[in-house]
Amino acid sequence: MVLALVLCGSLFTPAADAESERLAEAMTPAERVTLLRGEKGVRSAGYVPGVVRLAIPALQETDASLGIANADNLRRGDVATALPSSLSLASTWDPGVAERDGTILGDEAWRKGFNVLLGPGLNLARDPRNGRNFEYLGEDPLLAGTLAGAEICGIQSRHVVATVKHFAMNDQETGRDVLSADIGDAAMRESDLLAFELALETGHPGAVMCAYNRVNGTYACENSHLLDDILKGAWSFPGWVMSDWGAVRDARAPDAGLDQESAHTLDRVAVDFSAIPQARLIEMNRRILRSMLAVGLFEAPTLRSPIDYVAHAADALDAAQRGIVVLKNDGVLPLGRQIHRIAVIGGHADAGVLSGGGSAQVLPVGRAMAIPLGGDGASLAFYDRSPPLAALRALAPGTAFSFSTGRYASEAAALAHRADVAIVFATQWLAEGKDAPDLSLPDGQDALVDAVAAANPRTIVVLETGNPVAMPWLDRVAGVVEAWYPGQRGGEAIAGVLTGAVDPSGRLPITFPAAESQLVHPDLPGLDQLLWLTAGGLRGDALAVAMQPFSVEYSEGSDVGYRRYQIAGLKPLFAFGHGLSYTTFRYGGFHVTPGPMLTATFDVTNTGPRRGTDTPQLYLTGHPGGPAMRLLGWSHVTLDPGQTRSVTIAADPHVLADFDEALNAWAIPKGTYEVSLGSASDALQAHAVAAIAGRQLPR
Ligand code: BGC
Repeated sequence: MVLALVLCGSLFTPAADAESERLAEAMTPAERVTLLRGEKGVRSAGYVPGVVRLAIPALQETDASLGIANADNLRRGDVATALPSSLSLASTWDPGVAERDGTILGDEAWRKGFNVLLGPGLNLARDPRNGRNFEYLGEDPLLAGTLAGAEICGIQSRHVVATVKHFAMNDQETGRDVLSADIGDAAMRESDLLAFELALETGHPGAVMCAYNRVNGTYACENSHLLDDILKGAWSFPGWVMSDWGAVRDARAPDAGLDQESAHTLDRVAVDFSAIPQARLIEMNRRILRSMLAVGLFEAPTLRSPIDYVAHAADALDAAQRGIVVLKNDGVLPLGRQIHRIAVIGGHADAGVLSGGGSAQVLPVGRAMAIPLGGDGASLAFYDRSPPLAALRALAPGTAFSFSTGRYASEAAALAHRADVAIVFATQWLAEGKDAPDLSLPDGQDALVDAVAAANPRTIVVLETGNPVAMPWLDRVAGVVEAWYPGQRGGEAIAGVLTGAVDPSGRLPITFPAAESQLVHPDLPGLDQLLWLTAGGLRGDALAVAMQPFSVEYSEGSDVGYRRYQIAGLKPLFAFGHGLSYTTFRYGGFHVTPGPMLTATFDVTNTGPRRGTDTPQLYLTGHPGGPAMRLLGWSHVTLDPGQTRSVTIAADPHVLADFDEALNAWAIPKGTYEVSLGSASDALQAHAVAAIAGRQLPR
């Protein structure tokens, strides 16, 4: 089953507008600061006091996109549904799953007493080493923006304000407090900002969180171009801008568009509210109140109440199954009946599945197993207790399983040698605040895979990673499955795909590079400096203070990820959009109809042996200005063997258009456009051209 496309209307009604104005005007000058200055939460991320005299409720803020977070176990033992990572969600390419995830987040937040959710995260995955990519929705603005919009609809349907973050260009963690992301206006509008623009257009979130970093030299939370000119000006965003925790550096940041200082004790420079004109203070309050009223925080105050964790767990399982991407299959998958002995190796597959760390860390229903990591000793990796090994046993009852932790490659290889198939679980733990220094799997896991594959060519690697990784052993293994951080029922989801109980339908939302040399910045900007300072013993605040500012040149402009690979002729390890099914599909009769809405129509036939879901993708491949590569749209088709269906995809006008700096508007230039249909960005199968008259998009 494929979930439906989501469109929710704006909640910002004239009534919310009028009432917010009345309340903001009715506040005394002292009260006008109350809603504008947040506290660091004692039991969650944040808290903003209400105004009792005017019956304005307090804001209870919680992270975030993968479940109601309980990082550091601040609320002792308070579990929540741990959803698969956002990269897994993005791999479903399904706004219906995003909306359902959002509804779960909103529902659990509300029933736990939270009325503001600090998500979804929406930074484009410009660098596959970014430690927070697992909290984001991949590298394409249309895919990420569409999914975020749907997630926001779900969150706010439960009377919880959604906060899109981190606005903008917080695309790496290394040096996030000091770096400047440098990019031209048009390029920024056509990439990272387009994702936000689309999410705002479809989801109408109540809040936006400005980021830690600088953009073109100016910190994001004091960047009037981003906040005033674009967000509130060009996009007419009616909600409020809150700062990230500790991201304020200018006492007059509200002059540039900041409306609320979060967790003010964390800021190096506090906002000086006494210096802000009353009219602006009223406007800041109005924006916050308008969102609170629009989303229903007054009418439907939170109520601590039981959560249907069983239903949510079923949805978490379904989401995880859809988010798994089969990258390579030499016929070893799905595991057939002729397989009698399976060696399962590594990744704590006997105990659970990995989750990502930092502010988004959820304490899952069913609890987690904490594994201390080396290095500074402060980090714990949490494994949701959904062991793939037990799940495999349940789905393949006649099969004999053996397990090796993988600590000793020789032992694992010996086990693999005696089995019909070996499955290596390889993990990459990532967390807020740290990037991966390179693309390798850590802790010698590449050598482990090599040793196992040498002992048994029928080796399958299951990846639980927060990012794309390099695979030096790719040619020597028979199958590779990317399960991401699959959430609290991830083990069952993996077993479902491996055994074929589930037909895999995930497609990559991010390019897997062949090597670091293919990256825009082969050396991660700022990493040298960071390593130098940490080698000198600096940690935490001292480290943050010592980091010297640097710039990250976004020389790729708006050609993020696959766009750049295709245009530059770079061959990735696995391309954006790639993902295998256990059946096969054929496309036919592709043609394009120009007009105000360019549409493509074609047939999809299931030519394989079983029912499966395909994700045909429509790309712009030629543009009046020259070669191009942009995802214009996609569809989902679930077909029985031999079945054919006609599919129509309408190209999103924002992606067809360029941002014209001189006009300060989106414009579709007149000329000839080439549009291509493919099963992945590097597997284009049919092409058509269309003449377009050219027009400016309405603002
Ligand atoms: C993160 C935000 C998060 C906030 C509150 C910050 O460190 O960047 O994403 O919402 O903390 O926990």
